[in-house]
Amino acid sequence: MDISIEQGSVTDIATPLLAVNLFEGVAISGGATGAVDRALGGLISQMIADGEFKGKLEEVAVIHTMGKIPAQRVAVVGLGSQDKFGLEAIRRASGAVLKKARELKIKSYHTVVHGAGSGGMESAGCAQAVVEGAVLASYGYREFKSGDEENGAVERMSFVEMDAGKVAQIERGVARSKAFTLATTAARDLSAAPSNIAPPEYLAERARQLAAQYGLDCRVMGPEEMEKLGMGAILAVGQGSVHPPRMIALKYLGDPGSQRLLAIVGKGITFDTGGISIKPAENMDRMKYDKSGAAAVLGAMQGLAELKLKVNVLAVIAAAENMPSGNAYRPGDIVRAANGKSIEVISTDAEGRLVLADALVYAERQGADTLVDLATLTGGVVVALGTGGAGVMGNDDALIQQLIEAGNRSGERLWQLPIWDDYLWEQMRSEFADMKNTGGRYGSAPIGALFIQQFVDKARWAHLDIAGTAWIGGDQPTLPKSYLPKGPSGFGTRLLLEFIQNRAEG
Ligand code: BES
Ligand code: MN
Ligand code: ZN
Repeated sequence: MDISIEQGSVTDIATPLLAVNLFEGVAISGGATGAVDRALGGLISQMIADGEFKGKLEEVAVIHTMGKIPAQRVAVVGLGSQDKFGLEAIRRASGAVLKKARELKIKSYHTVVHGAGSGGMESAGCAQAVVEGAVLASYGYREFKSGDEENGAVERMSFVEMDAGKVAQIERGVARSKAFTLATTAARDLSAAPSNIAPPEYLAERARQLAAQYGLDCRVMGPEEMEKLGMGAILAVGQGSVHPPRMIALKYLGDPGSQRLLAIVGKGITFDTGGISIKPAENMDRMKYDKSGAAAVLGAMQGLAELKLKVNVLAVIAAAENMPSGNAYRPGDIVRAANGKSIEVISTDAEGRLVLADALVYAERQGADTLVDLATLTGGVVVALGTGGAGVMGNDDALIQQLIEAGNRSGERLWQLPIWDDYLWEQMRSEFADMKNTGGRYGSAPIGALFIQQFVDKARWAHLDIAGTAWIGGDQPTLPKSYLPKGPSGFGTRLLLEFIQNRAEG
């Protein structure tokens, strides 16, 4: 979708559809909406007075202008209540307009920068949110769809801004939004890619492509090299598959003078059958999205390279396919991770923490002082939090707080869960090895985190369990948001970009 900016008045613009906005429970006063309302003889005010339009978030009313202004139609979109207003409301309102435009088969529409007139909101951030809402709402995984579904697609969205002084700011927001939406869309595509198309080597190939495109360092390790580095945990997970595992490292050096190094680490299980501890057949097809942590990490790398941020970031992707076979690892097996710790495998379905163990040890040995991992790790986090947010756990409350704040800005909520190691550790104690890979069904998300923590040495570390948020519209009820169509959400990508952007500035 093309994005452009035009300076001028909403009452002068010729367009098939012009989007303006309205808060819930607030009378129209000035601004673009007021100007359009007056030009239409008070039509919008009348709809409000008659209770036909309330301004609820994502509510859209379409009005034909009958030649009263050059715009053929006006879409009034609700911003919801003023006290809950923020970037997330802008994204959702914008996504709702995009969906309406698509429904009306409109190829190109104009919009005001929602929120830019409100107190304290800067135009760049608002414009970014408008683009994010629209572009992300228009997403669909269409790789394997024949036919002309693309024909319904909106091709262009243009901003109309009266104030010439704001145009440069809007341009900045649009430029940033391109990196954010490109990154999220790339992550969604990877997350949704079927496992026959996207084995571990596919993730490696994506990393190589990004390295070539943006001049990054890329290192892809196969089983032989992983063996040398003692990565017995990921090797065990991958050994049952005909598609060998890959440990993928991609490095972006935007601040070569600095010693600081952030590692973002993604779980890249390209398909999770559960292995010998096999999963039930129902909904197993979904387990192609068990690579969503890796997808978010690769997406974020693309975004930050696109933005040329002044930071050093190492991405590590632990990619493997978890299959049952004559070669597969079994319950009872004891494996050793790269830091030498031994693990008794109780369930081969608790494979995510195993691959992450080797990835985190590797990342810290590469010099990372801060580790953030993303993983569709446990069904337990979905039970605990539902699908409205991801769980965050870690060893550093300041880091966790920064991630929560980044998520609040990007519209990806995090909720901290505790790692109460005093009793959780008892559940993980093994008779034969340093630890088991599971600890029963209670507290399973924190136990997953506690396990992973055993492979962090001195670094600050946070773990995001995104099992409930990476896919929209499975069997669980999901938060209805205009810009989260059914399918892969790309959760974590924009959050990481916000977090990294703050790190670059701070
Ligand atoms: N990939 C799954 C977790 C998952 C569940 C992701 C539902 C998305 C939706 C993970 O590998 C897994 O199987 N976890 C087990 C761990 C258990 C065996 C300790 C779980 O949560 O049931
Ligand atoms: Mn599993
Ligand atoms: Zn898994």
